[in-house]
Amino acid sequence: MQRFKIAVLKGDGIGPEIVEATLRVLKKVEELYGVSFEYEEGLIGGRAIDETGTPLPDETLELCKNSDAVLLGAVGGPKWDDLPTDKRPEKGLLKIRKELDLYANLRPAKVWEPLIDASPLKPEVVSGTDMLVVRELTGDVYYGEPRGIFEENGKRVGVNTMRYTEDEIRRVVVKSFEIARKRRRRLTSVDKSNVLEVSGLWKEVVEEVSKSYPDVELEHLYVDNCAMQLVRRPNSFDVIVTGNIFGDILSDEAGVVVGSLGMLPSASVGDRYALYEPVHGSAPDIAGQGIANPIATVLSAAMMLRYSFGMDSASDLVEKAVEETLNQGYRTPDIYSEGCKKVGTEEMTDRIIENMERLKA
Ligand code: IPM
Ligand code: MG
Repeated sequence: MQRFKIAVLKGDGIGPEIVEATLRVLKKVEELYGVSFEYEEGLIGGRAIDETGTPLPDETLELCKNSDAVLLGAVGGPKWDDLPTDKRPEKGLLKIRKELDLYANLRPAKVWEPLIDASPLKPEVVSGTDMLVVRELTGDVYYGEPRGIFEENGKRVGVNTMRYTEDEIRRVVVKSFEIARKRRRRLTSVDKSNVLEVSGLWKEVVEEVSKSYPDVELEHLYVDNCAMQLVRRPNSFDVIVTGNIFGDILSDEAGVVVGSLGMLPSASVGDRYALYEPVHGSAPDIAGQGIANPIATVLSAAMMLRYSFGMDSASDLVEKAVEETLNQGYRTPDIYSEGCKKVGTEEMTDRIIENMERLKA
């Protein structure tokens, strides 16, 4: 029997609830596919700060490095909001990305037809939208030095540095072309090369790499224009590749275009490690009430099955079961609309698991 070890980092807020729900889905995968998952929990984020004084303890990092994949809930909350930037729960996320060298962040945004009314756009504009934002995750202004708040002539000045080496650009661009090849063979590279040198280099490297992928249609968009096109013609995009900060912003935009943030999964992958987490945050306002939407985390686990374990058919099954559950009208409050059946985290998970069983049979 195939065995995989999964590092489970539940995190803060609704993190524990949605991860628990997802582990139940994975249990069903074990049953249906005869694989075995071993879990080991680690601390991250606010709880890690409370218990160890740091948002990413070394033991957690070690655990991740000794696992086949990492499943993460969400981190952060008001309790830790007033800490300085380098002590905040988010720092744990940034550090784990960097330490595991998870340079490509895959954020699929597709419209679920039963939820098409959840999109703020007209159904005819958003219908058929199915894109994947590949966000570079370990470089850019997030990590560039120098950074800080300094004093100059008695006045404070805030500094961050947008920085990319050509190798950093190349590896994420290659990955994006490879992914585009397995999809609809369209790649949009997003930059700000009309203003920024770092973006000029980005574009040059994309052009170089594109020579090896003549079968993939390439377009370049400036980030401001891309932000507009995403709402004007979302269904024309296939794969979008961009840097860390532009990708942070555009992937949120892509998410809202297709409906609810509660539905968006993500994978952060490098050459050795991979981490799977929902795009949404820890939603402290609804934590512990049993109403959180587990779907983004469940779909993140489906990405884990596909990208880390090569279990494509199990991954398809989970995705189909989610779609079927939506078709049946089940909705957590965040995606509820009139005439649907409002359910909590647990019932939503029960329905998904039932549908897995039914669809597999
Ligand atoms: C994300 C988040 C993080 C980011 C924050 C919480 C540090 O917005 O994963 O998109 O900016 O990368
Ligand atoms: Mg973000």
